[in-house]
Amino acid sequence: PPSFSHMEGSSGLGRADCRAEGGSTGFKVAILGAAGGIGQPLSLLMKMNPLVSVLHLYDVVNTPGVTADISHMDTGAVVRGFLGQQQLEEALTGMDLVIIPAGVPRKPGMTRDDLFNINAGIVKTLCEGIAKCCPNAIVNLISNPVNSTVPIAAEVFKKAGTFDPNRLLGVTMLDVVRANTFVAEVMGLDPREVDVPVIGGHAGITILPLLSQVKPPCSFTQKEIDYLTNRIQNGGTEVVEAKAGAGSATLSMAYAAVQFADACLRGLRGDADIVRCAFVASHVTELPFFTSKVRLGRCGVEEIYPLGPLNEYERVGLEKAKKELETSIEKGVAFVKK
Ligand code: NAD
Ligand code: LMR
Repeated sequence: PPSFSHMEGSSGLGRADCRAEGGSTGFKVAILGAAGGIGQPLSLLMKMNPLVSVLHLYDVVNTPGVTADISHMDTGAVVRGFLGQQQLEEALTGMDLVIIPAGVPRKPGMTRDDLFNINAGIVKTLCEGIAKCCPNAIVNLISNPVNSTVPIAAEVFKKAGTFDPNRLLGVTMLDVVRANTFVAEVMGLDPREVDVPVIGGHAGITILPLLSQVKPPCSFTQKEIDYLTNRIQNGGTEVVEAKAGAGSATLSMAYAAVQFADACLRGLRGDADIVRCAFVASHVTELPFFTSKVRLGRCGVEEIYPLGPLNEYERVGLEKAKKELETSIEKGVAFVKK
């Protein structure tokens, strides 16, 4: 690893910068895993976000190239790159939002839980850095298995004495993005006008679309419900198989992550009525973490909404989802406590 400090995405010759950094004019955002399949398009899209004033790109490989490339975009955010563990703390200091897509993706035949052994350690290390350098930042955790990595992050923060349940959010937005797309396709609607709540978690049967609560209200046949539920639950596997060993969803994930991060930043700014689904510490079920609709505000999660009325099909799905979720959550907690 290089001995130089972080990479400025500029010549250093610029005159006084009129782009003041800080909350009043924009937010400071770090992406951990920025050189990866998700990280690169996510970095591109966050550089385009007018709410971002400073963008820190951290990875253990290839950040110099990604940083040089992204920094040439003529948008407002100042971009800096950080390479390797010894620059993690510098990458995190002062951040308002940290987005984590670091870790290995699935290959065909694998479950998300098969990624646990590698990704659990990566997430733990990164969260230890967050606890030390930006304990008040909002964290958007993308690395799989989300059902376990979010509990890992929570345990790390608890150990460090910095845990704020309102600031830790597992990103399940891709499930909503997919559900909106697939429902629109079946119903002949514009996907931009469809909103499907997807609750539970982010793996297989823990992904539970609430088709009885779709907006605009839709009435589906049982065949359509079976098809849609199955396709939404297996959307990730559909991409893994199509990529045939070259990874999992990266482009649609970057899109979903940016939508979610933008919602978090608008909440931080104080915009009203920002509601998204996310996997958070929760009391809506007996489980300690659960995905449901949450309202985002200046402190992160400001309200967690109840699940609303479920039909029999959804109630059965919920019971199955909770069983698997419980195991995944316990596995994450045990990893840090051991
Ligand atoms: P990738 O392999 O293309 O990129 C991962 C990046 O993480 C690489 O650049 C790698 O160098 C970096 N990395 C590895 N260890 C690191 C560390 N200790 N610190 C910082 N960076 C590190 O993988 P990808 O396709 O971008 O997927 C990343 C993760 O996101 C996977 O775990 C995948 O399963 C998950 N994912 C989640 C969702 C979701 O909906 N939440 C969707 C898609 C993918
Ligand atoms: C997804 O839903 O696309 C991600 O969780 C990646 C995967 O492994 O399916």
